[in-house]
Amino acid sequence: MALYSDKVMDHFQNPRNVGKMDDADGVGEVGNAKCGDIMKMYIKVNDGIITDVKFNTFGCGSAIATSSMATELIKGKPIEEALQLSNKAVVEALDGLPAHKIHCSVLAEEAVRAAVKDYYDKNGIAYNPDEFQIHDCEHCHD
Ligand code: FES
Repeated sequence: MALYSDKVMDHFQNPRNVGKMDDADGVGEVGNAKCGDIMKMYIKVNDGIITDVKFNTFGCGSAIATSSMATELIKGKPIEEALQLSNKAVVEALDGLPAHKIHCSVLAEEAVRAAVKDYYDKNGIAYNPDEFQIHDCEHCHD
């Protein structure tokens, strides 16, 4: 069996929503504690809906594929829904990742959260800080 699913290969080779956004309403930058890779996520928000999203990464192929899928999953969705996006949901949407690459999907999840938090901070929107706790990678392999 191939190590990576067709969907992972597709999103790695043709990543969606790559780039910078100069007029972003929220920007999140996170680093992966396990490998040192970096991810930056930009969101545009209109009436509580994420109307556009872009990402830039200095990360591996799995980071690229998961971020690409994450942007597809949150685009056009209410911002609260983006906050609920888990790395597991992203991995499932990609038909799985090898266990040792699951931590790469965390980068995508955390970058989305960081961008949402930045949007909330910039707009003085109150939020529950518990929703922005750092992901515990040890549970990624459940
Ligand atoms: Fe660093 Fe995948 S090895 S994000």
